[in-house]
Amino acid sequence: MNIILLGPPGAGKGTQAQRLVAERGMVQLSTGDMLRAAVAAGTPVGQRAKAIMDAGQLVPDDVVIGIISDRLDQPDLAKGAIFDGFPRTTAQAEALDRLLADKGLRLSAVIALTVDEEALVDRITGRFSCATCGEGYHDRYKLPKQDGVCDACGGATFKRRPDDNVETVRARLAEYHAKTAPIADYYGQRSMLHSVDGMADIDAVYCQIVAILDESVADAE
Ligand code: AP5
Repeated sequence: MNIILLGPPGAGKGTQAQRLVAERGMVQLSTGDMLRAAVAAGTPVGQRAKAIMDAGQLVPDDVVIGIISDRLDQPDLAKGAIFDGFPRTTAQAEALDRLLADKGLRLSAVIALTVDEEALVDRITGRFSCATCGEGYHDRYKLPKQDGVCDACGGATFKRRPDDNVETVRARLAEYHAKTAPIADYYGQRSMLHSVDGMADIDAVYCQIVAILDESVADAE
């Protein structure tokens, strides 16, 4: 089963994808994570993407389609892929259709997380993570139990994403509304789109997603 998690920055796509990985053995394909890895490694793709990401804009379609195309060639997707942050434009959605068809794969569901805009800004501008293990924290909602020490691994270094400041979040949201939100119609016309209340707590959102996945499996049988 291959699914898309669709939603604005901070909607909870990564949070829910990681839970599906842990509990369902699916594979998370996050173009944001792949691009950040390319930036950190200083590859040509990373060098091209860095300034664009720091400005809160979308990286060109050909770059991210190439990244996803290469990733789909790897043999670890037997239990299904979660597309997290891809597609983000109609051109990317059309390319994904072609890539999946070429490999004899299909999409089972597109799950759109809806969250109020001010909650998105609050979630993103407050988040930080352990530089060692990646455990996520938030300035207001989830601080380490012991000040300056990661609960999960004991690490003492934390980091924030360079694009998680108010100005860049506003730019990311503007990109989302202009270029990504319209692809909901692309999937809605094929009756693949499911809307989930992303304002609910993390467990409740996960339950809504699992119910949709189980229903999709039942429909396919
Ligand atoms: P990317 O890394 O994809 O970032 P994003 O879409 O902006 O998403 P985020 O990771 O910020 O949010 P999320 O929805 O995953 O939320 P999360 O679970 O972390 O992209 C970064 C950049 O890369 C883009 O701006 C662009 O430049 C480039 N890029 C990437 N893909 C691209 C593409 N396909 N095309 C072109 N360019 C591309 O949660 C956020 C916070 O909220 C966390 O603190 C979490 O704990 C908390 N939270 C989550 N759920 C809940 C809940 N239910 N209640 C309360 N808090 C919650």
